[in-house]
Amino acid sequence: MTLAGPRLTAIGSGKGGTGKTFVALTLAQAFADLGERVLVCDADLGLSNTSVHLGLAHCGDLPGFLSGRTPLKAAIASVTTEGHEPFDLLAAPPGSGALASADKATIDKLSQLLRRVAFYDRVLIDLGAGIGEAVLTLAADADDVVVVMTPDPAALTDAYAFVKLVLKRTGGRAPGLLVNMAANAPEAKRTAEALSHSARTFLKTATPYLGFIPTDMRVVECLRRQSSLWQSYPHCPALTAITGLTGLLGGGPARLRATASLR
Ligand SMILES: Nc1ncnc2c1ncn2[C@@H]1O[C@H](COP(=O)(O)OP(=O)(O)O)[C@@H](O)[C@H]1O
Ligand SMILES: [Mg+2]
Repeated sequence: MTLAGPRLTAIGSGKGGTGKTFVALTLAQAFADLGERVLVCDADLGLSNTSVHLGLAHCGDLPGFLSGRTPLKAAIASVTTEGHEPFDLLAAPPGSGALASADKATIDKLSQLLRRVAFYDRVLIDLGAGIGEAVLTLAADADDVVVVMTPDPAALTDAYAFVKLVLKRTGGRAPGLLVNMAANAPEAKRTAEALSHSARTFLKTATPYLGFIPTDMRVVECLRRQSSLWQSYPHCPALTAITGLTGLLGGGPARLRATASLR
């Protein structure tokens, strides 16, 4: 079965620094390597930094695309890593603050435009921190929402607030939980269970556990060196975990995709 239009997968967390951008960009590469045509939209509208993560000089022109000035083809940047399939990035220039004060109409328009990028099989939406209008609208309109949390207690309370508000907007479709920067599997499970317990008790909702990504200092090292983790450490535990996640999010060549979304 081929799905009509791209599958929208939003990556959020509430708290900043939990690894949303890392997860969005590495998942994009993993889906591309499976044969999907992938677009990453950097929806951290005020503090766009995906191009910095990727060491790209050109990040695309999201503001131009949104205003209708720039066609999609000219508004995207291609991300190419030797030995891997390319994927595309749609972002505002880092440090420009170009979309920091985007109003509700602009955010709704972005959400509708992403639904219509017919060339792609999947759009990964790297949400900003917080639980503002852009974050909640884009999450509620997506097919899958992944909450990236860490064992940090502040990440837990922020993730709970994010889940609660997404549930409210969607009428009860629960995001999936991904624990990043965990020391090991038991710590990750405990972290996810703490949120699941609160969600069951107070929100009467089950939140599926998608898995965990271990703390891996090679992630930080590559970001600092502006080099690709996929090239330097293709078999590191963090990338192995990301690759494992693709199946749970219905990953695979478009013609083979028949898995229902998380929601
Ligand atoms: N699994 C991991 N192990 C070690 N460091 C990580 C891991 N995931 C993310 N990081 C680091 O954490 C920092 C924040 O990640 P980032 O993706 O920018 O977070 P966010 O987008 O949620 O603000 C970055 O320096 C990144 O390299
Ligand atoms: Mg980010």
